[in-house]
Amino acid sequence: MRRLGGETLVIATHNAGKLKEISALLAPFGIDCVSAGSLGLPEPAETGTTFVENALIKARAAAEGAGLPALADDSGLCVDALGGRPGVYTADWAERQWFEGPAGRDWYMAMGKVEGLLCELGPDTDRSCHFACVLALAWPDGESAVYEGRANGTLTWPPRGTMGFGYDPSFVPLGDTRTFAEFDPEEKHAISHRADAFAKLVAEQFGQV
Ligand code: IMP
Repeated sequence: MRRLGGETLVIATHNAGKLKEISALLAPFGIDCVSAGSLGLPEPAETGTTFVENALIKARAAAEGAGLPALADDSGLCVDALGGRPGVYTADWAERQWFEGPAGRDWYMAMGKVEGLLCELGPDTDRSCHFACVLALAWPDGESAVYEGRANGTLTWPPRGTMGFGYDPSFVPLGDTRTFAEFDPEEKHAISHRADAFAKLVAEQFGQV
């Protein structure tokens, strides 16, 4: 298994928030991070049909473009009764296209779309779901590694809570009665799909052999 050395790691994101969060998680292991955006690398089209494919597309494009190892993530919500949808299209389901005014993401609309489909299936429909997160590491020579994390839960309606983002107000993690949007951020980060994937990456990349 290939391990990260002392070189700089490119974080395949143009999102400053993600760069900050990932840099902080990797700093204790002596890894310096730089974003693909700050290196002027283009964002590749996410044409994969799985989280693994999309995370690898992003990590490989950044590693090849920068000539350095790169880390990318892909995540989303998978609802059992909907055959895993919205899955890799989780963000797309929030895309709002008005004839007038700015397009944008509407998370309440996206949660409502999921709820509407569950209602169509009947009142006793299974409301189980999970958030998935895949972290992909890629090296310029083509080698790669993936780490998959998940947070299991159920969907509730109406949405509750003001913290978090995306589908958090409708997601109740297994073993709790609050939605992720009612969790303190630190508490959510400790049990999230992202934390699960990072724990696996850290164990393999920086753990004892
Ligand atoms: P991406 O991995 O940045 O493409 O994100 C995919 C989408 O999944 C996001 O836009 C969110 O809507 C959703 N998502 C991923 N992680 C979470 C989470 O922790 N809470 C709520 N929504 C999430």
